[in-house]
Formats: sequence, structure tokens, C-alpha cells
Amino acid sequence: MPGMNKRSSRYSTVVSQPAVATRQRCGRVEPPAATGHAAPGDAGVARRAHPEAPNVESAASPAVAEPREFTELLENYRGLLRGRSIPYPVVYRFVKELGHGRQGVVFLATRHGARGCLTEHAIKLFDPGIYSSAARYWTDMGRIAQQISRLQPLNNVNLVPGNFYEECNGIGYIHMSAIDGIDLQFLMDGKHLELARARGASKEWNRFLDLLFRLEDGRISLRTGLVLDILRNVLRGIAALHANGFIHGDIKPTNIMINIQGTVRLVDFGRAAREWAADGQVGRAK
Ligand SMILES: Nc1ncnc2c1ncn2[C@@H]1O[C@H](COP(=O)(O)OP(=O)(O)OP(=O)(O)O)[C@@H](O)[C@H]1O
Ligand SMILES: [Mg+2]
Repeated sequence: MPGMNKRSSRYSTVVSQPAVATRQRCGRVEPPAATGHAAPGDAGVARRAHPEAPNVESAASPAVAEPREFTELLENYRGLLRGRSIPYPVVYRFVKELGHGRQGVVFLATRHGARGCLTEHAIKLFDPGIYSSAARYWTDMGRIAQQISRLQPLNNVNLVPGNFYEECNGIGYIHMSAIDGIDLQFLMDGKHLELARARGASKEWNRFLDLLFRLEDGRISLRTGLVLDILRNVLRGIAALHANGFIHGDIKPTNIMINIQGTVRLVDFGRAAREWAADGQVGRAK
């Protein structure tokens, strides 16, 4: 967004962590691989998560023991939240929470790759607690994994890039590019304006009000030009999804993000539906 600078972003500087010398699986430590790492997602398609889930098993996917009891699955979720890291297949350390919603928590995470390669990503950890059983959880995770496989080739500037699905101790997570910015809800609720006013020069503040926001009786509204710009970009993202047979299904301010360059990106394809049935009805993604 024009006028938005690094200070208005929700990011803070990431503290680098020491490189991980060993290669770990969830809960188990393995010796380093002789020929370097296979990055998560190298297999190209997501691993089959559950016998009921659609079969997209990849020969390259490692076998992972899944918990037998649902209570164990719930405890695994809490364990990952407590440990603030995912130790599989390389360690992702959670730096800070970027947001949360009904489906789980999104973290900014540092990925500790081979030879000390540290990269930043967003990790969305799916909470099994909103499902009634592990089978239902994994079936839905299978649906999400399928969606990611199909959406992955879509390279559109208005959609969050770099998605792939993985699991740790049966807990599903999506790896995405971390968006250095804010969601539209945060922009609209006006809290950032107090920050901008306190930190910025009065000239900058006046420009903010001239171009981007209107303040009336203490209430904030976005100026028409800004609204049109955001909407135009949201519609471009939606059009790209539609052109590939998807509907997003959950367009709302918290699923619309704006980075510090002003690029608008849609996130959260968790409720996306796919394909128009012959009767014109939209079917769930299969
Ligand atoms: N790639 C990302 N980079 C930075 N922040 C993100 C990213 N993805 C999501 N977020 C933040 O995390 C919040 C929650 O993410 P998301 O919408 O995917 O979760 P959710 O559980 O599906 O939420 P809900 O069901 O309420 O829509 C978003 O509103 C946004 O603020
Ligand atoms: Mg959301």
C-alpha cells in the first residue's frame, strides 16, 4: 500500500537461530543425510494423510507413524504449540504468531535447512480440536492437501505463493510465503493509525489522511481510491482462482492481506470449492 512502511508491518526482526546439525523427524533425531536435504514439498504432491483421504501418495514421501488415538492427536497439536517448532523433516522454529482463526494458528517460522540455510515462511498449523475424530481431521487434511496440489501451479501475484502441505505427528500444516504486511481487518480497524501518528512526521500523517484514510468523529474509513485499488486486486485473485475452476468460498477482510509494497494477496484456501457440477452447483473440492 502506498505510504505504508516497514514500521506499519506486523513483522519484527527475526532473531537468527543456530543451524541444526542433525536431520530430525518428528520426535526422532536422525543423522544428517549424506547428499543433503530434500526440501518439504520436493515430492510435488502431498502425502496421503488418511485411508479415507484421496490417494495422492508420492513414492518419495517418507512413511510417518500416525497417532492411534484421537487424544494423542490433540496432545500432539498442543505439543507443537508448546514447543513452538516443527522438527520434521527439517526444523521450523516459530518466531511469532502472525494470526489465528477457526482452523488453527499461523506462525512466522524460520526453516533450518541444510548447511545452515535459514529461510522465513508462514506456517499454518491445523487444529484437530474442531473435528470430532482423527479420521474426520485427516480426511479434511487430505482435501486440503489435494487443493494445494492443484493450486500450486497457479502463479498469480494476488494469491499467497509458496504453498505446500506437510504433517508432523499427524498434525497437518501448510507452508506458505510469509506476507510482510497486514490483513484488511487490521487496516480497517484503525489501530495502526495511532502507531503511524506517534511515529511519523506530521507531514506524513497529513498525507496519510489526504490520500488513504478519512477520520470522522473518531471513526476511520478508507478513501475511495484505496478501496478501489484493494478491490481490483482482490478481484484479480478471485478471477485467477475461477479461471482454474476454484472458488475461494471465504472472502473476508482477515483473508485479504496487503504487504509493505502494497501488493494485495488472498490467503486461506481452506474453504475453497472446486468445479462447477453439471447442474451449475459448486461442488466441494475433491
Ligand atoms: N502467509 C501469511 N503471511 C502472513 N500472515 C498470514 C499468512 N496467512 C495468514 N496470515 C494471518 O493469519 C490470519 C489467520 O490465517 P487464516 O485465515 O489462514 O486462518 P483460519 O484459521 O483459516 O482463519 P478463519 O477460519 O477465521 O478464516 C490471517 O487473517 C492473517 O492475518
Ligand atoms: Mg482466514
